[in-house]
Amino acid sequence: MSQLLETDRLMGIPITMEDYDDLYRLNTDPDVAKTMGGTRTTKQTQERIETWIQSWKSKGYGVWVLREKTTGKFVGRAGLLDYLIDGTLETELLYALMPDFWNRGLATEIGKRIIAYAFEEIGLEELVCFTLHENKASQRVVEKLGFQYEKDIMHVNLPHFLYRLKVPERI
Ligand SMILES: CC(C)(COP(=O)(O)OP(=O)(O)OC[C@H]1O[C@@H](n2cnc3c(N)ncnc32)[C@H](O)[C@@H]1OP(=O)(O)O)[C@@H](O)C(=O)NCCC(=O)NCCS
Repeated sequence: MSQLLETDRLMGIPITMEDYDDLYRLNTDPDVAKTMGGTRTTKQTQERIETWIQSWKSKGYGVWVLREKTTGKFVGRAGLLDYLIDGTLETELLYALMPDFWNRGLATEIGKRIIAYAFEEIGLEELVCFTLHENKASQRVVEKLGFQYEKDIMHVNLPHFLYRLKVPERI
């Protein structure tokens, strides 16, 4: 099973520590930080990458670095990560793009590909996604991807909406 992802416009490559500089740029972008409860420090960025690398090793899924196919430019990151929510281990679909790439349908494009990977290639049964109440763009993305609102939760001490997507029933 290949862990590289490809869509019409993007390449997804499992993250490594070599992606640190790009990730730090994303994590300290003020517009991105607003939607993620603040900027991340160098240490937090490094720890997150380590967690994602560990997830690839132990679970066979994790976070991909996204690059534009035509230019190789860093676009952002997206992926799957296990998360304890209200005492239940859930798999979260996560994504964040550099502002230059917003509103071109890219999060939806990679989201669809990751959902197919989750359900068809690794056999997950459901995914969750959570967004800050004011993150309208992310809410629109989850809606376009077919997620349903489930409940309000607290995440990083901030109120979020939790959405869920279940694998379609097979006939
Ligand atoms: C959320 C994010 C990933 C969306 O990426 P994107 O590639 O721009 O998403 P898409 O282009 O696929 O779709 C965005 C949709 O939101 C809509 N949208 C954008 N800003 C909006 C706003 N302020 N209010 C309402 N809708 C908005 C767009 O019009 C589009 O919907 P449409 O296709 O119906 O027109 C991107 O904004 C981002 O990286 N934000 C910072 C990190 C983040 O928020 N991550 C998610 C944490 S939960």
